[in-house]
Amino acid sequence: MSRLSIMAYIFGGLFFLISLSFSIFYGYKVTTHDFPLETETLEKYNYHFVLIPEELDNDYWRLVEKGARAAAKEYDVLLEYAGPKQANIEEHLKTIEMSTAAKVDGIITQGLSDEQFTPLINRVVERIPVITIDTDAANSNRMAYIGTDNYYSGYLAGKALIADTNGIANVAIITGSFYANHQQLRVKGFQDAVKLEKGIKIVAVEESDISRVRAAEKAYQIVKEHPEVNAFYGTSALDGIGIAQVSDKYLKPNQVYIIGFDALPETLEYIRQGVIDASVVQEPFEMGYGAVKMMIDLNEGKSVMPIVHTNTRIMRAGDVLKNQLDYAEEQH
Ligand code: BGC
Repeated sequence: MSRLSIMAYIFGGLFFLISLSFSIFYGYKVTTHDFPLETETLEKYNYHFVLIPEELDNDYWRLVEKGARAAAKEYDVLLEYAGPKQANIEEHLKTIEMSTAAKVDGIITQGLSDEQFTPLINRVVERIPVITIDTDAANSNRMAYIGTDNYYSGYLAGKALIADTNGIANVAIITGSFYANHQQLRVKGFQDAVKLEKGIKIVAVEESDISRVRAAEKAYQIVKEHPEVNAFYGTSALDGIGIAQVSDKYLKPNQVYIIGFDALPETLEYIRQGVIDASVVQEPFEMGYGAVKMMIDLNEGKSVMPIVHTNTRIMRAGDVLKNQLDYAEEQH
C-alpha cells in the first residue's frame, strides 16, 4: 500500500469517527431536549410528570398549567409542560411518544380523538400511567379522566341560549374542531338541549381550529351568507372572542346574541361591554391541580376515581360584576 493511500485511510477513519460522535451527540440532544433527565435534577423530586396540551401558548392551557405547577410545587414533582406551540395533532402524538421513551412517571394529556389517541394511550398505559384531562378518550384504557362533563356543558349552553333569547333564534355554531371528542360533545349537548324548541334553528356549524382569527373569519363568512343568523355559540375558549370581534366591528349592538366558553380576560371584558352575553365557565386551574394529585396517588398504588368532573357554570354580565366584588372583598 502506498503512503498516500495509508494517509487517506487514516483521514477517512478520523472523519468517520468525528461525524459519528456529532450525530450521536446531536441525536441525543434532539430527542431529549424537552426532557431534562439528568439524574441530579431528577433526584431532587419525588416524581417526573408531563402535561401535554393541544396548544402550549393558549391562555386556557396556561391556567391548567398553573394549577398543575401549584400541585407539583406542593408535592415535589418535576412537572414538564410540553407539546405543540399551535394545535397540531402529529406533534401532540409525537410528544406523548417522546415522553414515553423518556420514561417519565406519568403522562397527563387530552384524549382528543378515538382514532388517533386511543391506540396510542392503550400502548403507553402498559408502561406509564396516563390521565386524560379536559378531553376524555373514554374508550381507551386511560387510568382516569379529570375535566368538564363536556356533554353537560353543551347542554347548559343550549338551555342558557333558550332562556336568554326567549326560545327564538337562528343559531350558528363555531366549534374548535369537528373531530375532537370534547368539541363534538359540546355541540351534541347543545343540539339536544334545543331540539324540542320550535323557535330555535341551527343554521350553520363551522370549525375554527381553536384559532381566534379563524373563528372571526368563520363568523364573518356566516353573517354574510346567512343574514338571518342572530345568535352564535362558540364551543372553545377563543371562539367566542373571535365572534365578538366581528360583532363589535361589523354588526349593530345586540344584533346577535353570543354565548362562548371559558372566562379568559378578553371574554370577561366582552361580557362587561355587553358584546358577549354569556359564557360556559370551566375550572382549568382545578383540572391541572387535581390531575397532578391523582397522578401521585396512582404512582403510590392508591386507587383514584376513574372520572372526576370539575365544575361547570354559566356566567353572564351580573356574575362578572359579582366576581369582581367578591375578589375585591377577598383582598381586604
Ligand atoms: C377547551 C380546550 C381547548 C381550548 C382552546 C377550551 O374551551 O376546553 O380543550 O384547547 O378551549 O382555546
